[in-house]
Amino acid sequence: MTGDTNGNSSQSQARPQPHPAVGGPPTGRVAAGGAGGGPVSTAPGGAGGGPVSTSPGGAGGGPLSTAPGPAAPAFEAVPWAAGALDAEAERLIFERSSPGRRASSFPDGDGLPEQDLDQALPAGFRRTAPVRLPEVSERDLVRHYTRLAHRNYAVDLGFYPLGSCTMKYNPKVAEAAAALPGFARLHPAQPAEQVQGALELLARLEHALCELTGLAAATFQPAAGAHGELTGLLIIRAHHEARNDPRRRVVIPDAAHGTNPASVRMAGFEVTTVASSPEGLVDLGSLEKALDSDVAAFMITNPNTLGLFERNIARVAELVHGVGGQLYYDGANFNAILGKARPGDMGFDVVHLNLHKTFATPHGGGGPGAGPLVVAEHLVDFLPAPGVVRDGDRYRWDTDRPRSIGRVHGWNGNFGILVRAYAYLLANGGDGLRGVAERAVLNANYLLERLSAAYQLGYPSRPVMHEFVLSARRQKAQGARGLDIAKGLIDRGFHPPTVYFPLIVEEALMVEPTETESLETLDSFADAMLEIAAQAEADPHPLHQAPVTAPVGRLDEARAARNLVARWHPPSEPDQAASDPADEGPPDKPTW
Ligand SMILES: Cc1ncc(COP(=O)(O)O)c(C=O)c1O
Repeated sequence: MTGDTNGNSSQSQARPQPHPAVGGPPTGRVAAGGAGGGPVSTAPGGAGGGPVSTSPGGAGGGPLSTAPGPAAPAFEAVPWAAGALDAEAERLIFERSSPGRRASSFPDGDGLPEQDLDQALPAGFRRTAPVRLPEVSERDLVRHYTRLAHRNYAVDLGFYPLGSCTMKYNPKVAEAAAALPGFARLHPAQPAEQVQGALELLARLEHALCELTGLAAATFQPAAGAHGELTGLLIIRAHHEARNDPRRRVVIPDAAHGTNPASVRMAGFEVTTVASSPEGLVDLGSLEKALDSDVAAFMITNPNTLGLFERNIARVAELVHGVGGQLYYDGANFNAILGKARPGDMGFDVVHLNLHKTFATPHGGGGPGAGPLVVAEHLVDFLPAPGVVRDGDRYRWDTDRPRSIGRVHGWNGNFGILVRAYAYLLANGGDGLRGVAERAVLNANYLLERLSAAYQLGYPSRPVMHEFVLSARRQKAQGARGLDIAKGLIDRGFHPPTVYFPLIVEEALMVEPTETESLETLDSFADAMLEIAAQAEADPHPLHQAPVTAPVGRLDEARAARNLVARWHPPSEPDQAASDPADEGPPDKPTW
């Protein structure tokens, strides 16, 4: 999600006091709700809700107040249970450390043979002082991280309309499949004979992805969409070089996701940008002007980042192929056309898919992903080696790819994500996958219809596909910017949409409801957005202070991005400071 901004940055600052006019969740502390949350109520039952518990809740514990708050959150909104207004800051795990406490125990080693330490691990490889780790009990460890987890927002907790990221609810059947010991307990270096089931799964998944894209073969090595982009561009480079026709430029639309130009540069090409038409589609005239025999490829996503289907794609393919270029499909928006249309049939030569978005794993958060690359027949020889092949009823790794661009991953991709994607494909089946695309598009159009009473569309074209980009220019004129609206949503129990992307829309709010959401959720979100628009019109000032109910308040996001500090540095403590300097990091410099 490079270049996107959302409300979940990691650096915090003191929370401002709530503006008296702000509504939002009650301030009484409640037990953390289940998926979907629900209205805070003292009556038992209710979707996701449940009786208010008097047992100590989230951070800080303390007695429960059942006094009514300013306003009940919308039906599907998530009350910030553990991060209620008066919650104390959670102490660092290091600050909880107490000498001698342990969260694990080891057998005393009786009966194990004695080993000469110098032989097992020569002194040059050993630490000179113990590593500085917090000393905590299992209870403290579990409670600390559970409390932090309760302060987070997640697809298992509530609606997450982060445009471009496809943060859908991920069905648990895929988790169950990935957790099967026969998949989860493998080592990637195991001989093929011992992992026949895993190889068969890869071969079947490759077949399914080729079928869905209309292309010939795939590699599973890329670990994310951007990694797939780089791999595809290296393949395109190899293709042109093999024909003694090296080329310098890759053309992208001005609506492109930030990873596209970055991958182009990393693959050693120059970026040429073409403008979008007033309709929000690739401008064919500008594209034609940008194309010549120095163009290696045109890279585009369809539907594009405005959520609009590039209906001139066949003509685009003709133009690009006409100058000997390759057509690259950024498959990040593939959920919009799953089972309905195939990039290969549109004329694309190379496709990356974001399995972690389109299928059954959440996107972002630095977790593992899978960005397999699928290519047309004329590019198969350049794919990274090895690939899985079938010999009779056995499967093996085929390393015999002399024209391959080589490896792009230490092993063969993030296998657990591939298992989840395959489980998702099987669980849905062909008709089910078409239903995914249909519901994703229906949900987006329904939501847009409700929101268009108060918000303008970035580009006026309709219908949209799986997502749409609003412009908060009307609200900006009233004094509330896109960021204020996003933060206001946090106070109303929703994750914000992507903001300020794509760059070609002023005050962009990019909303992707995904196919997994119910009518109730969509309506609750629409109500919250409309209420914010009404607030902006009446008095935008409370929105400037939002969020006031979340565990942390308004963040300095530019500073967080430019000065990322993702590692804690211990204060100098003479009794513990004897650890290796490498453990401590440079005292004043950020590290990550
Ligand atoms: C249109 C588009 N292209 C590429 C990417 C990059 O994918 P990844 O974040 O998996 O690297 C994204 C991610 O959100 C995207 O939305």
